Amino acid sequence: MVDRSEERIRVLIVDDVAETRENLRKLLSFDPEIEVVATAATGEEGVQLARELHPHVVLMDINLPGIDGITATEQIVQEVPTAQIVILSVQGETGYMRRAMAAGARDYLVKPPSGDELINAIRRAYEIGKTQAARIAPPTVAQPVSGQPGPARRGQLITVFAPKGGVGCTTVAVNLAIALQEHLGVSKKVAVLDGSLQFGDVGVMLNLQTNRSLADLAGRVDELDADLLTSVLTPHPTGIKALLAPPHPEAAESLRAAEGDEGIGRVIRAVVGKMLEQFDYVVADTWSWVDDLSLALLDEATLILVVLDPLIPAVKSARLFLDLARKLDYPDEKVALVINAADRRTGLRVDQIERALIPAIGHIPYDERAGFSAANRGVPLISEERNSAVARGFARLAHAVLERLEQIASEEEEEDVEAEVSRRLLGRILR
Ligand SMILES: Nc1ncnc2c1ncn2[C@@H]1O[C@H](COP(=O)(O)OP(=O)(O)OP(=O)(O)O)[C@@H](O)[C@H]1O
Ligand SMILES: [Mg+2]
Repeated sequence: MVDRSEERIRVLIVDDVAETRENLRKLLSFDPEIEVVATAATGEEGVQLARELHPHVVLMDINLPGIDGITATEQIVQEVPTAQIVILSVQGETGYMRRAMAAGARDYLVKPPSGDELINAIRRAYEIGKTQAARIAPPTVAQPVSGQPGPARRGQLITVFAPKGGVGCTTVAVNLAIALQEHLGVSKKVAVLDGSLQFGDVGVMLNLQTNRSLADLAGRVDELDADLLTSVLTPHPTGIKALLAPPHPEAAESLRAAEGDEGIGRVIRAVVGKMLEQFDYVVADTWSWVDDLSLALLDEATLILVVLDPLIPAVKSARLFLDLARKLDYPDEKVALVINAADRRTGLRVDQIERALIPAIGHIPYDERAGFSAANRGVPLISEERNSAVARGFARLAHAVLERLEQIASEEEEEDVEAEVSRRLLGRILR
């Protein structure tokens, strides 16, 4: 709900058809919390008005004379980062959807939208803008510790782990990465790292045809710099970048062998460290057992998402993993559950699982049709249909993950302050 005493949601409409502009304006006039501050007939005019008026939300058509809606979106995202863009396009232009999202658009509606759809999308975009503005205010980039030159880690690692295989670990990792990118827009960089070394399938799920993979780093970890890292990453149309697992198990073994006794744990820590210098969020997929590789990814993570489906074997394995996490001294807030296929009728109820374990940070519904496209055509669940329950489930998960990361960061900050106070007190006592 918008606080009326505070402000109304200021909307800019960009569309070349006068009738469409007028219809949108009329639809929005029924909502007292929304104010149309201006309309523009071209992309250039839209960018100019966005610069001058700083609207909260821009409704952007795709086909425009001069620069198109996607280019205009890119320019507004760069120049007026507080403005949230909602793309409006006619049916059949869904191919543009990915480009629009990669350009930093916040949402995508098919024309003509219903009044409810439009108003809900505007409210959602406005709320996200507010949270983003609050997040931008304090410096989020970690500063290098004095005396230690070189680029600091700026990002955070989210490791997705499923102690029972086949429950949707890779699905959650890949779709969460895309949902984070969509939620945060182009100003933030998101990557996915396939830590399922021998039979990793992030590349298949994203339909990436490439030879680049972790295997290219065999014997080269000590020379790993930003350029070498970039050369092994593969971009995806959604804007995320992927560091894929070796293409076959033998290549995975040569990567392991090249590192000798110190092993794959060292490789993966070095890779993660370098990725976190370049990316704001790295989401790591893992295989289903705890060894030196997955342990490195679990240790390095700010947040671990434990994926399970609502069946007894997965719940039992999740219980065992939660116990292990305590033994490893991971703080409670570092570990969160994601229940996949949560609505499966033959499964346990979510509340039963949460009572047996811990409350989940996300529930993802089962979507047979999207699952089929994901497995056979490499279309991530979230991209199959924008407004599907599964896409919304991942959008909510992305939001909850960001909230948890913020909570962890603020608790760490408090601890730092407390440690500093104790250090000073101790200094005074000992003087
Ligand atoms: N919520 C869902 N709705 C529909 N299909 C899903 C869902 N989650 C996962 N799937 C499908 O289930 C299959 C297994 O998922 P996935 O590969 O993500 O599991 P995994 O835990 O990574 O498996 P592995 O242990 O083999 O690595 C895939 O074909 C995927 O598309
Ligand atoms: Mg997997």
